[in-house]
Amino acid sequence: MAAPQASSVPVPDGLPLRELERLAIETALEAGRLIVDDRPDSLGVSKTKSSATDVVTVMDQRAQDLLRARLRAARPQDGFLGEEEGGASGSSGVTWVVDPIDGTVNYLYGIPAYAVSVAAVVGDPAVPGQWTPVAGAVVDPERGHLFHASLGGGAWRSVDGGSGERLRVGEQSDLSHALVGTGFGYEAPVRVWQTRVLLEVIEHIRDIRRIGSAALDLCHVADGGLDAYFERGLNAWDMAAGWLVLSEAGGLFGGLAGRPADAAMVVAAAPGLFAELDEVVAAAVAHVRTAK
Ligand code: IPD
Repeated sequence: MAAPQASSVPVPDGLPLRELERLAIETALEAGRLIVDDRPDSLGVSKTKSSATDVVTVMDQRAQDLLRARLRAARPQDGFLGEEEGGASGSSGVTWVVDPIDGTVNYLYGIPAYAVSVAAVVGDPAVPGQWTPVAGAVVDPERGHLFHASLGGGAWRSVDGGSGERLRVGEQSDLSHALVGTGFGYEAPVRVWQTRVLLEVIEHIRDIRRIGSAALDLCHVADGGLDAYFERGLNAWDMAAGWLVLSEAGGLFGGLAGRPADAAMVVAAAPGLFAELDEVVAAAVAHVRTAK
């Protein structure tokens, strides 16, 4: 049975984990306010590619620039990697990995399921298996949800600024009763492949959900709102903070068959479900490959 490998990435002694977590929370909340308050009214009515996508890109870039400025002011020695333009290497061993709007298409259409994801990671976030998150926050500004975690400090959720509730993954251990999240890529051939895999997985589970934000999917596995999640094609910024929230809530996270999570596949689940979901998705991937 495949289980995700424990991270072998060394975490330097003396990292100020609570300070990093606090910074992730503050910056994610501020960016969350920006993308809600400054969302142009016209965004919801014009969904043609050339104009609306440009507006979304502007908001993505503005939110990322805000995150970068705040993080740099607080910790100028850290590296920075975001979905939009403007990465930078650092000298501290910590890199901030951010997604200014995870769930961009929901944001474009006014569907209230998108998030700001901010994580401090150690190692090289460009190389799968060579990095791990140590502090992070995911803000769902539409629902007023803040998810946050630091390594060894547990995973927490607060609603509308209220006191935090410690998170624990659900107890489901029967895959046939598991509600499973997934997502689809932007390119049609990738979505076709993902749909073929899903066709093979869906008979083994209770049902599927496509929420549209990988960061929220991972946080929902952490709070028991989903039992499990899998997706091909994620980038480091989609998964970094949600990965930590999930694992601090007792969930398992990895790639297929003991490999590190990467663009090939991410699997996340409560411990009683992980191995079976991993096997079912791996079998589906192998079958789709040979059926071609
Ligand atoms: C996307 C979302 C979506 C997932 C895609 C991601 P973005 O991120 O997380 O749920 O299915 O794979 O690319 O582009 O909105 O930041």
